[in-house]
Amino acid sequence: MAQATNRIHCGDCIAGMKKVSAASVDLVFADPPFNIGYDYDQYDDKQQDESYLAWSKDWMEQAWRVLKDDGTFWLAIGDEYAAELKVTATRELGLTCRSWVIWYYTFGVNCKFKFSRSHAHLFHFVKDAKRFTFNDEDIRVPSARQLVYADARANPRGRLPDDTWILRPQDLPEGFEADGDVWYFPRVAGTFKERAGFHGCQMPEQLLGRIIRSSSNEGDLVLDPFAGSATTLAVAKKLRRKWIGFELSDEYAKQGEERLDNIKRGDPLNGAADPLKSAPDTRNGKVRGEGQPTRRRRKPSDNASNTLFDVG
Ligand SMILES: C[S@@+](CC[C@H](N)C(=O)[O-])C[C@H]1O[C@@H](n2cnc3c(N)ncnc32)[C@H](O)[C@@H]1O
Repeated sequence: MAQATNRIHCGDCIAGMKKVSAASVDLVFADPPFNIGYDYDQYDDKQQDESYLAWSKDWMEQAWRVLKDDGTFWLAIGDEYAAELKVTATRELGLTCRSWVIWYYTFGVNCKFKFSRSHAHLFHFVKDAKRFTFNDEDIRVPSARQLVYADARANPRGRLPDDTWILRPQDLPEGFEADGDVWYFPRVAGTFKERAGFHGCQMPEQLLGRIIRSSSNEGDLVLDPFAGSATTLAVAKKLRRKWIGFELSDEYAKQGEERLDNIKRGDPLNGAADPLKSAPDTRNGKVRGEGQPTRRRRKPSDNASNTLFDVG
């Protein structure tokens, strides 16, 4: 392998991945720019459709090339290009899609004339449809049977995480069912302790924790072509994997390296493993001052459907 591991290489990921030996990486996690005009340090996030799609195919081809035969590729992408990139991955590159996960997050940017963005797509692709790493034991969550109903038939090992609309999971009548295929982790907002502070797209460590734990083993090599604030690499290090990252911006790369230097293998992941603990329950309305609710929460019986509530 011409590229050193356990570091962030500053520069273009396509050129960088070309120097990584074929079939040498266990897991690629990629969170590319979504081509929505986001203000990055160096990258221009407003490309013509055709050029963005051609570029996406180029870097995805390299991701495919460096993956081992039993390797896994996770792709985070917005609505705009999710469908096209899934077709590129499956029809053009021959990857198999195991899951199309929706990551629902709070603290997204408020929109004025459309619904505010509160989810991203997470595609779980594998190179070989039959042979791949999937550590289900490492990512199981308590089931509703265990948590809510104390049902004796509940599998004591819990169940695998599961698509549903959830506005504020902590306000659901019986709490958020962590076993849904809508994954709830708040975005890393400006006030969060976890926030590295130099990159607006920092992903939550707990989200990467689920991906890295399920799709790789200790000692495996994890590659992120778009390192950004280095979340993937930080979690890989904490979970005792090897890592290799690429980042176009020298400033992000430098700060990402500093973030990595400040953590040790085996350190706990930032953020609450149980997302319900990371945001206040507003079940009884938003509380101002001495516990005065400002808005009454609708009871399930107020609604034809009891899954959506109007408390923001
Ligand atoms: C959405 S951000 C990644 C955020 C990251 N997942 C995190 O948690 O911080 C995308 C990153 O890709 C970088 N980038 C854009 N084009 C690139 C390229 N050709 N090669 C490497 N990095 C690139 C941008 O500078 C930006 O930091």
